[in-house]
Amino acid sequence: MLIKKPDPIKASEITPEPIYRNRRLFMQGLAGSAALALSGGAAAIPAYDLDADAPRYPGPDWLQSKLRAGARNEALSTAEKPAPYVNVITHNNFYEFGTGKQDPSRKAQNFKTDPWSVEIAGEVDKPGTYALEDLLQPHGIEERIYRLRCVEAWSMVIPWMGFPLGDLLKRFGPTSRAKYVAFTTLLDPEQMPGQGGFFSTLDWPYVEGLRMDEAMHPLTLLAVGLYGNALPPQNGAPFRLVVPWKYGFKSIKSIVRIELTESMPVTTWNQTAPNEYGFYANVNPEVDHPRWSQATERRLPSSLFSPNIIDTKPFNGYGDQVASLYSGMDLRKWF
Ligand code: MTE
Repeated sequence: MLIKKPDPIKASEITPEPIYRNRRLFMQGLAGSAALALSGGAAAIPAYDLDADAPRYPGPDWLQSKLRAGARNEALSTAEKPAPYVNVITHNNFYEFGTGKQDPSRKAQNFKTDPWSVEIAGEVDKPGTYALEDLLQPHGIEERIYRLRCVEAWSMVIPWMGFPLGDLLKRFGPTSRAKYVAFTTLLDPEQMPGQGGFFSTLDWPYVEGLRMDEAMHPLTLLAVGLYGNALPPQNGAPFRLVVPWKYGFKSIKSIVRIELTESMPVTTWNQTAPNEYGFYANVNPEVDHPRWSQATERRLPSSLFSPNIIDTKPFNGYGDQVASLYSGMDLRKWF
């Protein structure tokens, strides 16, 4: 269902999914070896052994069929073992629902994520507001298993379901003035208790941003699911960003607006504490947070007796793919 469409996308640009998927495979066949290495072989998504008692989040019917059609992108997935499902859905940062790690899983269960609409705005040829189902219609979903490294020095391996942000942006025709992409989370204090009240922690809504080349990078994902199911509300349902080489706070949840801009957008954590959180926020073991080291991380699951501390890698281990985006930049200055 279309909510508002001031500048419509031509019907020919909205390709039915099976045709689109076949076309993508065809294009992959034609592409050079570099592109093939990035698109990788597809493999069926295994039936995950989810904790029997843990809640499942099937999502709306239209999303379920897209998720079922998805395959794993092996080339862009780590071979590391995903964290247990229960960790991924109960250890969260989503300040709109509170600052405790378990607040989101406790308080977000009634969060209404369908219907949902997303505005595409700014420096694009075809701005408009779209029902999520329509926005996602031409995109095939694939699984990618990524490392997520939080700036607080914990990390997890998560099997996301999603598609490249760049594929979406291209459809809307970025203008030559588009240098950055700004993202906004829903503002709804009635549903999101952390946004209300006198002692509210951050300036709402939560906002984030990427440079255009970062946004177009094949690793940058828009996620709609994890573990083969729809995203749980606590993980940013129905639609979130995942940028695996950056600290987790860049991976903004529950997105309602994507704006292409000429100048660098304001971002929530940078605005809140500019000396602690930069715009770039690339994972970097050599640049400590002013209050703690970033040299190591606690890989979940971890416990008191088995803390599972591992070395943090530059760009969270994705340096081969992304370091060239920052060549010539002083990463201590642009942290
Ligand atoms: N997005 C919004 N809107 N609000 C938040 O508080 N927290 C960020 C990021 N996205 C946050 C957000 C932080 S700090 C991290 S580490 C990741 O979400 C955590 O994602 P997860 O809970 O799915 O593991």
